[in-house]
Amino acid sequence: MEKNIVVVGCQWGDEGKGKVVDLLAEKADVIARFQGGANAGHTIHAGGKKFILHLIPSGIIHREKICYVGNGVVLDPFGLMDELEVLHAEGIDTEGRLFISSATNLVLPYHKMIDSLDEKKRGGNGLGTTLRGIGPAYRAKVGRFGVRLCDLYTPEKLKERMSVYMEMRPEYFSDSRDERADIDKIYDDLMAIAPKLKSRMTNVSIELLKHYKNGKSILFEGAQGAMLDVDLGTYPFSTSSNTTVGGALTGLGIGPKMIDLVVGVVKAYTTRVGSGPFPTELSDDLGLKLREDGGEFGATTGRPRRTGWLDLVALRHACRVNGVEKIAVTKLDVLDDFEKINVCVGYKLRGEKLSEVPLDLSQLWDVEPVYREFEGWMSPTSHINKFDALPENAKTYLGLIADDLGVGICLVSTGARREETIVV
Ligand code: GDP
Ligand code: IMO
Ligand code: MG
Repeated sequence: MEKNIVVVGCQWGDEGKGKVVDLLAEKADVIARFQGGANAGHTIHAGGKKFILHLIPSGIIHREKICYVGNGVVLDPFGLMDELEVLHAEGIDTEGRLFISSATNLVLPYHKMIDSLDEKKRGGNGLGTTLRGIGPAYRAKVGRFGVRLCDLYTPEKLKERMSVYMEMRPEYFSDSRDERADIDKIYDDLMAIAPKLKSRMTNVSIELLKHYKNGKSILFEGAQGAMLDVDLGTYPFSTSSNTTVGGALTGLGIGPKMIDLVVGVVKAYTTRVGSGPFPTELSDDLGLKLREDGGEFGATTGRPRRTGWLDLVALRHACRVNGVEKIAVTKLDVLDDFEKINVCVGYKLRGEKLSEVPLDLSQLWDVEPVYREFEGWMSPTSHINKFDALPENAKTYLGLIADDLGVGICLVSTGARREETIVV
């Protein structure tokens, strides 16, 4: 396998990036997360335990790996403290091996408050956000009203930045009695944790270049998926960051030549949580079966995920915008007892056939999927650890996906645990 790999989601998130990163991390020295925030929920099953990570890179479970959180992430500092505590309680020590960019913007309690208020104001047209304050924190960042990790160490500046931010948003703050808008409390809480974060603060760009020059192998961990990218996804039903490969460059301060390979994580069917178009969604018993068999409930919010067939048109888009050369296909086992499996190979938009996504991805509301039907394999796959040993119909299914997308398959996942994996 190539040395420095970016792992990105190719659908609407929850493809199994956590598991894939955890597996690839075994051969890496350094793991760096580059965007998103605590909207992510990356699940890892290792050593009989289940971990759900929101901000900390999935490589942290390997006790000797060094992990970084890049400037492209929006960091909830209190959420981070909780996550560190959970890891500590599980005997995973992060001292001296988890570092955070000093330029990382913080998600503060009032960003979560605004997230909820905005969703309420949108009424029936809500985005179905995770309510983790992601949109408001990125908005503050690009509006240049953000608070960054390094600001915790110039307290006068910190308080002023928070005050100005609030004064300029009377619509949210003028009458607010919400504790999340209490600047003095937020300030005190931040001051209480600032000393604990100081030793973790670093210049991630400089550190990664050092590792690179020392011949270390670096794994770059994305969150969400291509279809949730703020530029390239189903805007406005997207998240607020670049979930695609460009996010790794700007979110960590690295050059493109540091990347040897982009691995796209593809769930063997499709899920989406939150609002927005989803052409292959199944609203019938098959959809319910996918949800039940796949355990499709949000790792961050617990919300039931919407489910549907694999969408090759959306995947063509995801692979193109990311320069994906290899895919990791996950959750193949969930299809083990489907007699027939459909794959969307094209769309119809007002009578016109499309093989690529429309110019305006919001038109995904109006497209009709064109399906190709496959015979299911109707036998368990979780115990299989060689590609050749997979049922013929499963190999046909995987072969079609790889051929259509013009990519190789580097990994097939047939269960949540590490050992339920076929390395190709
Ligand atoms: P992520 O956000 O992309 O890391 O994915 P999530 O962790 O949110 O969701 C993936 C879910 O599927 C988690 O509960 C994983 O433990 C589980 N999972 C991952 N790979 C497989 C697989 O191959 N088969 C099954 N059945 N579950 C899997
Ligand atoms: P991981 O990394 C699935 C979705 C939300 C909502 C939209 C905007 O676990 O794959 P936001 O809170 O970001 O403003 O919400 O994006 N969303 C995710 N869906 N997996 C995720 O992360 C997601 N992060 C955000 O449900 O539709
Ligand atoms: Mg997830």
